[in-house]
Amino acid sequence: MRDPLVTTPKITARNVSVYYGATRAIDDVSIDVTQDEVVAFIGPSGCGKSTFLRTLNRMNDTVPSARVEGEIYLDGEDIYAPSMDVVQLRARVGMVFQKPNPFPKSIYENVAYGPRIHGLTHAKGELDDIVEGSLRRAGLWDEVKDRLTDSGTALSGGQQQRLCIARAIAVDPEVILMDEPCSALDPIATAKIEELIHELKGRYAIVIVTHNMQQAARVSQRTAFFHLGHLVEFGATSDIFTNPRAERTKDYITGRYG
Ligand SMILES: Nc1ncnc2c1ncn2[C@@H]1O[C@H](COP(=O)(O)OP(=O)(O)O)[C@@H](O)[C@H]1O
Ligand SMILES: [Mg+2]
Repeated sequence: MRDPLVTTPKITARNVSVYYGATRAIDDVSIDVTQDEVVAFIGPSGCGKSTFLRTLNRMNDTVPSARVEGEIYLDGEDIYAPSMDVVQLRARVGMVFQKPNPFPKSIYENVAYGPRIHGLTHAKGELDDIVEGSLRRAGLWDEVKDRLTDSGTALSGGQQQRLCIARAIAVDPEVILMDEPCSALDPIATAKIEELIHELKGRYAIVIVTHNMQQAARVSQRTAFFHLGHLVEFGATSDIFTNPRAERTKDYITGRYG
């Protein structure tokens, strides 16, 4: 077990509620995520998993009707403070979406784009190194090293998703948020992403939304179960799946709804 006095959380969310207009989609959620873990969010469709995930890098800012209450800290820094640079924040807290969304640019450019706009490199050689390193870490280098100028959109779905992970990694993030990253992928591509998550664990704090409970059990150390905008239960993944405390969690994992 972790010593709560030693481990400082990477992300701290306190009393977070999210509204779309007058409708509350997330109700008073508080969680911590530490640097060295993978946390899974599970729960039936529409329970607010994506909404809450998006609060962690202020992606909800792009939804005009969305309003976030409560506090979220990254390394103790209030990410909703007026002084927070949101572009910088989204580099520190990267995001991978359900549907792979490479830019309609070359494989190389997909990965080089972030470091370039963030001014992380000055020399072309440095950029080449970042592109190669990011593609390697995303488990894609060997498959694309001879076709870096091909369009990112020409890759298979699984490769596109790994390209999106490489793109997130390229700006040297601290946290990676993944919203059902495998739901559009076949089982082999899914297994590759899960393997990759294992490899990335420790280097980045990872939060993954998944509707696949086996996937949550395979990749995460802690699991949060959401229902109707509430965080019902958050604990060790093994406990959530074998010995849940809440009746609603039990009903969900045994397939009574969802
Ligand atoms: N952009 C939006 N505008 C209005 N309502 C939304 C928007 N996005 C999500 N919602 C609503 O918020 C609730 C939670 O949705 P969501 O976070 O997508 O759930 P999940 O990811 O668990 O399926 C749902 O009732 C959904 O209809
Ligand atoms: Mg969702």
